[in-house]
Amino acid sequence: MNDTITTDANPLILQQSSLELLPSFADQFNVLMTYYRSAIMEVETKFRVLDIQQSINQETNPIESIKSRLKSPESIMEKLQRRGLPLSIESIEQNLFDIAGVRVICSFPEDIYMLADALLKQDDVTLIEYKDYIENPKPNGYRSLHLIIEIPIFLQTEKRLMKAEVQLRTIAMDFWASLEHKLRYKKNLKNIEHYDEISRKLVACAEMSAMLDRQMEAIRNQIEGR
Ligand code: GTP
Ligand code: MG
Repeated sequence: MNDTITTDANPLILQQSSLELLPSFADQFNVLMTYYRSAIMEVETKFRVLDIQQSINQETNPIESIKSRLKSPESIMEKLQRRGLPLSIESIEQNLFDIAGVRVICSFPEDIYMLADALLKQDDVTLIEYKDYIENPKPNGYRSLHLIIEIPIFLQTEKRLMKAEVQLRTIAMDFWASLEHKLRYKKNLKNIEHYDEISRKLVACAEMSAMLDRQMEAIRNQIEGR
């Protein structure tokens, strides 16, 4: 007689052994992160293709650089907790749309809209959310175009739809956002002296860099006879 455990013979032991076969939270989490990593690769490729096409057609490169990041496990857990959401794999997928983050740094503001339109026209890209902080900057001066999109990744036996956050900004917008982020995280700005004055100065810097963007774009258009 072989000693295989069957349901009839010993249901409890079977239950226990199938529990052991279930992937742990950590395993499922790691698998999900590889899906988001794949989504980042898909989105990056889409932008690289658009950049190459422009360099052939227009002899320009609208993209200066692409910086991507996968949200860290600590940030994921912190965001779920802060929003009072369940700490589960399903909850991560349903509630957090910025686990896969792709930041596209462009040369000129017009390139941002050209690239966003070209991306959103693709038939495997679904727009979930569109926030234009260039048209409507945040009160602190922050500018960028934010898209939440859903795109497919193709696995061995299935197609999986993944969400990703795309931030498109110019070099000037990125310069401002990077320094503002550094300053904000260095100190809890709200508690320091001259907070209002510092906030006003940061807004003024954002406006100066937006002006620089507009002027550089005007020069580009003049040179290219647009
Ligand atoms: P969260 O996704 O929870 O952060 O809230 P939200 O969906 O309202 O965020 P939003 O789409 O406005 O911005 C998300 C991301 O944009 C942040 O994680 C930053 O990368 C960037 N961002 C937004 N506002 C600022 C800002 O004032 N300064 C800087 N440096 N970056 C910002
Ligand atoms: Mg967000």
